[in-house]
Amino acid sequence: MSGSRAGRCAAIAALGMSLMAVSNTRVMAAGDRALGEYLSSECVACHQVTGQHAGGIPPIVGLPEDSFIQMIDEYRKKTRANPIMQTIAGKFSNDEIAALAAYFGSLKGSSPARTNTQTPRGRRQ
Ligand code: HEC
Repeated sequence: MSGSRAGRCAAIAALGMSLMAVSNTRVMAAGDRALGEYLSSECVACHQVTGQHAGGIPPIVGLPEDSFIQMIDEYRKKTRANPIMQTIAGKFSNDEIAALAAYFGSLKGSSPARTNTQTPRGRRQ
């Protein structure tokens, strides 16, 4: 019957859409990359997006998001001593830090010093 075939097609289409919705939700929960890119303009005045060291400033690209968030947290709690980064880290909300982590984590640095096994390769769109 043609009616039931159309129904099955609609069901398959609906399944596909809900799968897409699930994966979108996961990306959003991990941090809003677009917001991170917007906020990053302040960071890249010092940190190189190419992943190079510049004047004693470490690269922050390609880091696992949880490590990135943890480092910023340590500056916020002042358990990491650096007055510049403590001031900067203290200005952002948790959502904004997560967004920055998502953005910088998605960039691939070219620094050979970075050997994180968890570098998220292929996640860049
Ligand atoms: C005025 C220059 C400057 C700006 C602007 C700046 N940083 Fe930093 N950042 C530094 C310096 C210097 C260090 C090294 C501090 C230390 O020794 O702990 C650092 C360290 C870090 C680290 C730790 C890296 C590691 O491997 O230990 C992270 C993460 C970081 N910055 C993120 C950011 C983010 C995100 C922004 C923008 C919101 C930002 N920084 C803006 C100068 C800056």
